[in-house]
Amino acid sequence: MIKHKPKPKGTIIAALDIGSVKVACFIGRVIDDIGGIEVIGIGHVAARGIKAGTMTDMLQAEESIRQAVHAAETMAATEMKGYPLRDVVVNVPSMYSECHKNPIDIAMLGHEVGEGDIRRAIQRAQKQEHAEGQTLVHAIAAGYAIDGHRGIEEPRGMAGQRLRVDVNIVTAESAALTNIARCVERTQLDIEALCIPPYAAGLSSLVADEMDLGCTVIDMGGGVTSFAVFREGSMIHAGAIPLGGTHVTNDVARGLNTRVQEAERIKILYGSALTSSTDDSELIDVPQLGEEDETQPNHVPRSYLVSIIQPRLEEIFEMVRARLDDSGLGAAMGRRVVLTGGTAQTPGMRDLAGMILGKQVRLGRPVRIKGLPDAVSGPAFAATAGLLHYVCERSDELPRYGRGDAPEGSMFERARRWLRENW
Ligand SMILES: Nc1ncnc2c1ncn2[C@@H]1O[C@H](COP(=O)(O)OP(=O)(O)OP(=O)(O)O)[C@@H](O)[C@H]1O
Ligand SMILES: [Mg+2]
Repeated sequence: MIKHKPKPKGTIIAALDIGSVKVACFIGRVIDDIGGIEVIGIGHVAARGIKAGTMTDMLQAEESIRQAVHAAETMAATEMKGYPLRDVVVNVPSMYSECHKNPIDIAMLGHEVGEGDIRRAIQRAQKQEHAEGQTLVHAIAAGYAIDGHRGIEEPRGMAGQRLRVDVNIVTAESAALTNIARCVERTQLDIEALCIPPYAAGLSSLVADEMDLGCTVIDMGGGVTSFAVFREGSMIHAGAIPLGGTHVTNDVARGLNTRVQEAERIKILYGSALTSSTDDSELIDVPQLGEEDETQPNHVPRSYLVSIIQPRLEEIFEMVRARLDDSGLGAAMGRRVVLTGGTAQTPGMRDLAGMILGKQVRLGRPVRIKGLPDAVSGPAFAATAGLLHYVCERSDELPRYGRGDAPEGSMFERARRWLRENW
């Protein structure tokens, strides 16, 4: 397992989570030398002008970002001594990212494998050409072989002729990143790093054993359900499906013939992923769409509501299962699944996920960070908090653009240069 060097104690770090339903900003301070973080500023608002990670209205999206950041800055003003926030780590929309393995061979000539050899392999993978229109987001050592012997978990200290490092490469559509970069840049913020949401969600919600022995995090948001597989402390695979809680709400609105806002309220109050024995007798009041008198609600058995929600959630888990099966990771995935994201809060979700995925499932929330009030300590904020962990602990994983020997500038400078060169 790679030993990451966290940012020094006292450093101020900030995360901007641009989601389909909410935009959240957390400002944190590094409180020790082992990656401990305390949150000192929080802001979150309903996302406008953003749909499943795509900017549909730049001005509205910019305004949502501005409001979330302003609220977090105001809360952290004393700690930040009045300085405005500058650097942020931003989530990459999962739907626009791709993940693949890139095997890199390093000649050892009988020497012992050292940290430098692994870093060399990662740097080599970073420098390789990516598919047209794709930008590198993550390059992570995800598996090793020495002289053809696979399944080596810790190659350091082992000797051989040839080391193979399977580098897990995550890229994202450059056009989608351009839009995000433009939007964030207009709020006078610098992008220090980019990170896919399920990676962030795993960093904040998994315990060390889960991350080492094999665990899959499924982040179930509003527009997207994304997943990441962890093993030996590293993210070894990731993917996403363009379905989330918003689709469940829309199904409910259609199925119950009611407004989307009502459907959202009813889903959250009475929704469940599985039926229970009392659902037939329990009646829910549903205001009817188009009726002249919407105050005359329809009475619908709760079981009917669940019969709308359950198939959509099953579809999501079945798609995730199919994608995990296709990954060929097999037993390396481990037996555990951790669910994060707002949609994970649906009652009965753990059991439904357990039945479809055939794994032990638990709900995840940001557990490694200090100072989170109850309102933002649930599963929906696991990815937001995780962005802080990412930038604090894993800045050694940040990709270098351009020539490997070029001095390391901030991600923003690189993004800005890249923006200038590309349009
Ligand atoms: N108690 C609850 N029960 C069921 N669903 C819930 C509950 N609370 C929130 N949700 C759903 O969670 C979704 C929002 O989740 P989240 O905040 O993780 O999304 P996001 O990060 O903005 O979106 P994404 O990650 O997809 O871009 C909404 O669809 C909402 O209906
Ligand atoms: Mg999200």
